[in-house]
Amino acid sequence: MFSKSTYIARRKALCEKVNSGLLVFMGNDYVGMNYRDNTYRFRQDSSFLYFFGIDQENMCAVIDLDEHKEVVFGDELSVEYIVWMGAQKSIKDKAEEIGVTDTRPRKEADDYIAKAMKAGRKIHVLPPYRDANKIYLSGVLGTTIAGIEEYVSASFVDAVIQIRSIKEEAEIVQMEEALATTKNMHMAAMLHARPGIREYDLTAKVHAEALAGGGDLAYPIILTVHGQTLHNHYHGNLLEEGQMVLGDFGAESSTHYAGDITRTFPVGERFTDRQKEIYKIVLRAEKETIEALRPGVAYVDMHLLSARIILEGLKELGLVKGDVDAALEAGAYGLFFPHGVGHMIGMDVHDMEDLGENRVGYGDDFERSTLFGLRSLRLAKVLEVGNVVTVEPGIYFIPELIAQWKSEAKFEDYIVYDEVEKYTDFSGIRIEDDCLITAEGSRVLGPYIPKEIEEIEEIRARGAKIL
Ligand code: GLY
Ligand code: MN
Ligand code: MN
Repeated sequence: MFSKSTYIARRKALCEKVNSGLLVFMGNDYVGMNYRDNTYRFRQDSSFLYFFGIDQENMCAVIDLDEHKEVVFGDELSVEYIVWMGAQKSIKDKAEEIGVTDTRPRKEADDYIAKAMKAGRKIHVLPPYRDANKIYLSGVLGTTIAGIEEYVSASFVDAVIQIRSIKEEAEIVQMEEALATTKNMHMAAMLHARPGIREYDLTAKVHAEALAGGGDLAYPIILTVHGQTLHNHYHGNLLEEGQMVLGDFGAESSTHYAGDITRTFPVGERFTDRQKEIYKIVLRAEKETIEALRPGVAYVDMHLLSARIILEGLKELGLVKGDVDAALEAGAYGLFFPHGVGHMIGMDVHDMEDLGENRVGYGDDFERSTLFGLRSLRLAKVLEVGNVVTVEPGIYFIPELIAQWKSEAKFEDYIVYDEVEKYTDFSGIRIEDDCLITAEGSRVLGPYIPKEIEEIEEIRARGAKIL
């Protein structure tokens, strides 16, 4: 948790951005995995946590802009609950720690909202993403699930986005903590990989480090020898000499800040020459894009910078031909780099995307492209001091995509299909770091996580000796 004055200041900043009405914050509840009482790990809503800090289920809160009230709604624990789940501080005490003195039973939220509606006051909600909250809001607002949209308030959403997009110094400390654990996760993967084990053997080591950091995972672990599949969550493949492992995973700190790092390394002790050639292009794209980050640049241009470096590198290897500018403009790089170069990160790995991917990443000033590859870019906006973004270029050889584009003769002025086809067994390489935008440029957050070829090979050689 942050200091009381931090929460008070955050809510004050919000009140200054929205004029009138009732701001409703829905907390999350437990969700059953296979029946009600066998639940997924509880995760509080991030905006609720940001403004109200209470990490407990079945709560909601309002900021009443007309009557100048802040109310937290939640039920104090019954003895029956304590028997099963243990005692906790009271909601009253927790609310006191975030500067709210008015706490009421959860049920009273219904009346509070209903009265405000009756009085013709504006009710502002954030877009609900959990079904339980959709059902609750549709009931209390007297509308259908689809009808909640009418109450999703642009001014509330935009104010939350503006405030949460600029990370406070204390939040950066939390992110660095998440990244320290994330480094341990990546070191475990790089040290323990070897031919003959399965992806899940390595995944277990990675997850153990996240738990040992006092938190858990920021998102499901991607750890695969088939790195060409961007979000591959299958962990059953055997690791074989000559393959690479792509590991995209990060810790969520105990305070719910995310790390999101990708490294790609050989299953054996060394990269092959062919792997090194592609790796160097991705590493150059990542480092030069990080180098180019600064306030005032549009993040979409960072995507295009990575894409250009990828095209240039592949042209040197004979996989791409023709005019690089024209290939860039046309989007030919999408064959090799079909995702965006990154996104904002904070409490959510794709920060605030529950509030609307385009509102968070594009706002009013940018329009989302329809071009394959570029259309997957989640963030285009001009960067500001205090933003935290990932930079994560990659090169992938996706056999099905190559076959499809070849059959359509797509971008045949730029792509040398006969050469590209020689790489259909290559898999993919991605390298990802998390960067704070500073007045001077940017700073890669967290401890350094090895990414140079020589550093990775040294760790792999060391790893081979420890078991
Ligand atoms: N870990 C998912 C991503 O990098 O966006
Ligand atoms: Mn990412
Ligand atoms: Mn990632």
